[in-house]
Amino acid sequence: MTAPGLSFVHHFEPATDPTERPLLLLHGTGGNETDLLPLGRAIAPGAALLSPRGKVLENGMPRFFRRLSEGVFDENDVLRRALELSDFVAEARERYNIASPIALGYSNGANIAAALLLLRPRILSGAVLLRAMPPLASPPEADLAQKPILMLSGILDPIASAQRAQHLASTLKRAGAAVEVQEIEAGHQLTPADIAIARRWLASLKATL
Ligand code: MLT
Repeated sequence: MTAPGLSFVHHFEPATDPTERPLLLLHGTGGNETDLLPLGRAIAPGAALLSPRGKVLENGMPRFFRRLSEGVFDENDVLRRALELSDFVAEARERYNIASPIALGYSNGANIAAALLLLRPRILSGAVLLRAMPPLASPPEADLAQKPILMLSGILDPIASAQRAQHLASTLKRAGAAVEVQEIEAGHQLTPADIAIARRWLASLKATL
């Protein structure tokens, strides 16, 4: 369902298994609100899926914040867009009556999810960050007390290098999050291993949330 009236164009799919936490799906550059639906269904069957479309256009390609060049972000825009997205999540929770979601973000979507965690730590109940890198050079002190976060980075990724992912992981850990990082034999594109690992991780989390 693509519902009018909320502040982002989005797709919402209600849960068919009410014991599953909702997922907030955040696509990569050039994606849209339908992109990650198959991934969400594969890793959390039955979960509610909330999937907004990024509002920034780069040569016609939707993103969640502006960048100055590949891997160099417009940090003022990151700040502004993360707060805007956080307001959308709050609106959507009320509209659809859902619990605070776990973000499932890929690439640019993983980076805005990381910004949400650092800037509005209470808006997400956890996150799966696929090919993420630090969205802010000097993020504010956040309190992520034991928030569960899975990061999957590709050892051959030329965009979000495993080293940049480790840097983000350290920031999130310092803020108190329970971060698991796995480096997989992959580049920037997702692989079946991403799906298998994320699915297992979410299933093991279900018992604890
Ligand atoms: C970004 O946020 O710019 C990414 O990590 C890279 C991309 O989206 O292509």
